[in-house]
Amino acid sequence: MPPVKVLLVGSGGREHALAWKLSRAGDLTELHAAPGNPGIATLGSCHPVRAEDGEGLLTLARALDIDLVVVGPEAPLVAGVADDLRHAGIAVFGPSVAAARIEGSKRFAKEVLRAAGVPTAETFSVARPPCVVKADGLAAGKGVFVCRTQAELDAGLRAASAFGGPLVIEELLEGEEASIHAICDGRHAVALPAAQDFKRVGDGDTGPNTGGMGAYSPFPIDAEELLDLVHRPVLHELAGRGMPFIGTLYAGLMLTDDGPKVLEFNCRFGDPETQVIVPRIDGDLLGLLVAAAVGNLTTTEVPVSDEAAVTVALTAGGYPAANDVGTPIEGIADAEAAGALVFHAGTALQEDRLVTNGGRILNVTAFGESVADARRRAYRACEAISFDGMRYRRDIAADRGLRAAR
Ligand code: AMP
Ligand code: GLY
Repeated sequence: MPPVKVLLVGSGGREHALAWKLSRAGDLTELHAAPGNPGIATLGSCHPVRAEDGEGLLTLARALDIDLVVVGPEAPLVAGVADDLRHAGIAVFGPSVAAARIEGSKRFAKEVLRAAGVPTAETFSVARPPCVVKADGLAAGKGVFVCRTQAELDAGLRAASAFGGPLVIEELLEGEEASIHAICDGRHAVALPAAQDFKRVGDGDTGPNTGGMGAYSPFPIDAEELLDLVHRPVLHELAGRGMPFIGTLYAGLMLTDDGPKVLEFNCRFGDPETQVIVPRIDGDLLGLLVAAAVGNLTTTEVPVSDEAAVTVALTAGGYPAANDVGTPIEGIADAEAAGALVFHAGTALQEDRLVTNGGRILNVTAFGESVADARRRAYRACEAISFDGMRYRRDIAADRGLRAAR
């Protein structure tokens, strides 16, 4: 492969993890990010262009003579940033606005699933408990309300309606959840290691849903089999509609007693799943992204490390309701010295001092021979870090049997 100059779009923990992996690729010549974050700035050059600013990104990509743009978050994809770049002849890893609707509209995703014959939760026209209420559009993981009682349903309907736009009411599924990611070139899909995410804010899966409080990988399931059941039929359906999906197709699955069913699709890498999946990839991620972007994915299997990985999100005290800005952060170097990777998710530099700047502030990832081992190391590293109001779940990657039983 010829040398590659990459522009990475985004500023979260997912993008820092991608930057970390891409910066180690032999074929990488330069790594740029827009807008990036202080963690990414230690690996490449950050530019003050917003992730949703398609015109700004195109100007930057041209000025830097970029070979590949990798788009991290969903908002710029749903806004059509990949189309702006692709139409200008720049290779992009990330779907078109048409294909990104698989995440941008839950109603569209349901229709595609039905047409492709992929198992998913049933949709209801009338809301009665138990059920799940979802805002149709993007809601940063906060637009879904699982309602077991009438009181929860009343509150869920109110909260989901506050996002504006239509609602989806669906069957409440029970089981263990899995995040299955596939790299796609429009026609072909290759599986990445399976992971599990912890979406609720509180220990024991309590409290409101968040973007994700932590994750681990491997999750014991055959990702390749799931690609045949879920991702490949959806790719085929989208391609048939003239909207080939290029990028990461991430299926959130519920493993029910009746088999796996799709909860949602995302049109990009999961956050924080990426912080455990990507460091476990032994092979050439950059090569995969380039091949997918140019529609020539010939790889059928991605080499993966035997080591397990666990990541824990350190959040602002008020997350997910509120963010925190400007609070000094201490102890990252100590956490790194303990063997962890510390990915910046919501940080900023204020007069050379690292401070909070968001809801999820850092992701602490550690590795081990087993998930339990990686978990111990991740929590030991978390203890080295502090900022006022800092919170994290203490049960990431624990109680896996309990979760299955719920
Ligand atoms: P989504 O954004 O659709 O993945 O929903 C976020 C979270 O809400 C999921 O990870 C599940 O924990 C939960 N959820 C979504 N849909 C359902 C469903 N049909 N049944 C049970 N839980 C669900
Ligand atoms: N971790 C869930 C998401 O990325 O949507």
